Amino acid sequence: MNKATARANANIALVKYWGKAHAQDNIPATPSLSMTLDGLSTTVTIKASAHKAHELLINQSPISGQALTRCEAFLENMRKRFGFNEYFTIASHSTIPYQAGLASSAAFYAALAKALVHFLQLQCSSEETSRLARLGSASAARSIWGGFAGLEGGDSCNHDSAHAFALHSKLDVTMCVAIIEDRAKHLSSREAMNQTQATSPYYAAFVSSAQRDFVEARKALSEGTFAKLGAIMEHSTQKMHACMWAAQPSISYMHPHSLRLINCIYDLRKTHGPIAFFTMDAGPNVKVLSESKHALLVRQTLLATQVVKDVRICTPGIGAHLIEQHLL
Ligand code: PMV
Repeated sequence: MNKATARANANIALVKYWGKAHAQDNIPATPSLSMTLDGLSTTVTIKASAHKAHELLINQSPISGQALTRCEAFLENMRKRFGFNEYFTIASHSTIPYQAGLASSAAFYAALAKALVHFLQLQCSSEETSRLARLGSASAARSIWGGFAGLEGGDSCNHDSAHAFALHSKLDVTMCVAIIEDRAKHLSSREAMNQTQATSPYYAAFVSSAQRDFVEARKALSEGTFAKLGAIMEHSTQKMHACMWAAQPSISYMHPHSLRLINCIYDLRKTHGPIAFFTMDAGPNVKVLSESKHALLVRQTLLATQVVKDVRICTPGIGAHLIEQHLL
C-alpha cells in the first residue's frame, strides 16, 4: 500500500471532558458523551515520504510549529507501538475552521488514526482505532463512531479501557453551529486544561459531577427525553467554563457575541419552552442542540442577532471511514 485516505466528522461533547487523568496516555479526567456532526469533516491522506522527517500539509499549505510537533509526537508514538520504518507526508483538507473550538483536532486525529491503521494493514477494531485516535486528541476517540458516542475517563481508566463506544438514541436532533469567529484560538485546549487543572479551585467540583452527568445523559439519550438531555448538556458546559474562569490566570473563550447568543437561547426557551440548549468548547462559537423539527427556527433566531458569520445545521454524522479520493 502506498497511500491511504480517511474522512472523519467533528464531534461536539454534550457532556464535556476537561483535563487529564493520565497525561502520558492522554486519558481524560472525566467520561464524556458526544454527537458526531455531519458536514463538519476532515479528510486525511497518508503517504510514505522520501525524506527522513514527517511533513504536514493543511489545506495544501505546509505546516510547522505546534501542530506539526504534535502530529510528529503522535506518529512517533505509533512507531513505538507498531514498529514501522517510514516517515510520512500527511495532507489534510477540512470543512471546519481550524482551531476555533469546532473540534478540528478531533476530526483530524480520528481520520489520521483510521488512515494509518489501513496504511499499516493493522487488524484493528473500531475500539482499538478509537484508542489510537485518543493518543492524538482525546476527543478524537469519539469521532471514530457516528451518531452519539461515549468515552470513559477518570483515574481508574487505562489505555485499554479508555476507548469510545457507540450510543443509541430514539431522538431526532440537530446541532446548529453558530460561527462567530473562525480564526485560531488564543490558547490551545491542552494548555487551558493544564492551567485549569493546576489552579482552579472549582476543578474538583467539575470532575466529581461529571460522572453523574454522563450517567444521566446516557439515560436521557436512550429514553429519548430531549429536555433532560439538553439541560444536562448546558450545565456541563457552564461548569466547564466556570472552572476555567476561576483558573489563575483566568481563562475565558467567551466573546461578547457568545453571550448574546446564549441570551437569545434563554429568550427562545421563555417563548417556546425547552426546545433548544447551548454548548461551547474551547472557542467563542456557540452550538445549539434542538429536536430537528425546531432547527430552522433556531437557525433563524441565531441569524437574526446579526452577530454570527454563519449558522451550519448539522444532523448526526457517520463515523470515520476510508475513502478512495486521495489528497496526494
Ligand atoms: O481533546 P481535545 O484537546 O480536542 O479537547 C476537547 C475539549 C472540549 O472540546 C472542550 C471538550 C470535549 O469533551 O470535547
